[in-house]
Parts: sequence; structure tokens; C-alpha cells
Amino acid sequence: MRYWNTHLRSIRPYIPGEQPLDRKFIKLNTNENPFPPSPKVRKAMKKAVNSNLRLYPDPTCRVLRETISKHFQLNPENVFIGNGSDEVLAFSFLCFFEPTEQILFPDITYSFYPVYAELYNLPYSSVPLNSSFEIIPEDYLLRNGGVVIPNPNAPTSIGLPSKEIEKIVLIDEAYFDFGGDSCVPLTDWR
Ligand SMILES: Cc1ncc(COP(=O)(O)O)c(C=O)c1O
Repeated sequence: MRYWNTHLRSIRPYIPGEQPLDRKFIKLNTNENPFPPSPKVRKAMKKAVNSNLRLYPDPTCRVLRETISKHFQLNPENVFIGNGSDEVLAFSFLCFFEPTEQILFPDITYSFYPVYAELYNLPYSSVPLNSSFEIIPEDYLLRNGGVVIPNPNAPTSIGLPSKEIEKIVLIDEAYFDFGGDSCVPLTDWR
């Protein structure tokens, strides 16, 4: 910390939820799965751990992007690979948000959003949920430098249909596998 710059020192860090070390419980809020990986997955991973690990990887992750895009019926250009969604979110904040306007996110949501906003010097404002803890898309139709919401929202778990959120810019689908309406088709803008 002694070597951190003054800006970094002023930021209140994101504190992840407790990750018990005894490994006895399945934590659905970290997307843990009650079922182990299929033997086919384990076999494929073991096969990939070979002497090629000494080589630098393809920086465009072409094979992985092609495989994912085939599965989700997208074009490979619509797929971005990162080290978990936090890294993809960090790049997205840097790339899509305009520092001249305040960015918007719900007042109960993933607590990393304000930390990234502060880290990247983006002014921000949080928009209240309604009394049923729902996001009201119309509340975001203000002048803004970008909007980010998780769908379904975390930790409320309440989702919105993609029709209602087409006007909202950045959708974080970290918990989509538990259910909801994916906005992935919106990435095909051509
Ligand atoms: C809404 C939301 N998005 C993203 C993440 C981060 O996911 P990852 O572990 O893939 O970086 C979390 C983790 O808690 C989350 O709650």
C-alpha cells in the first residue's frame, strides 16, 4: 500500500463475500454448482494441460471464441474473453462509459460497480429500486454516461425481460444460468 498512488489509496475496496475454506457447502451466490464437471470436461482439461503450456497463448482466443459463438449462435466478433466477469466489467467501464456524464446503476446491486467507477474516475449516481426491489428501466432515461445493471439483479435476484432493457447499455448476466431472459441476442447489431 506504501507504493500505491494517492487516487488508489482513496478508494474503498470491494470486499468479496466469505468463501468458506472447509468446502462443505455449495454457494449459489458465487455460481458454484452442486454437480461436478462431467468426465468429458475433466478429460478435455487434462488433455489441454500438455507441453504446449510453455508457449504464449493466442491473444485473440480464436478457437474459444469460435466455439462459444457456435454454441450461442453468435458471430465470433460478438464474444469477448476475459479472466472472469470482473475483468470484462473493468474493460467495459473503461471502454463504454463517458467520463463527462454520470454513469447510472441501481442502488441495490453488485457492489463492485461503484468501486470501478471510482477507480476509473467516472462520476456516478445510483437509482433507487421500487418498493418491490425492482429496477424500473424508465428511471434510467436521464442524461448519463452509461448504465450498468446485472440481469437478474444481484443480490435481489429479480430479472427484467430483455424487451424492457433494450435501452440500457451494459448488462451483466453473471447469474443468468439461474434463469431469466438473456440479452445476448442484442449483441448482434448488424
Ligand atoms: C453481478 C455480478 N457480476 C460479476 C461478478 C464477478 O464474477 P467473476 O467471479 O466471474 O469475476 C459477480 C460476483 O459476485 C456478480 O455478483
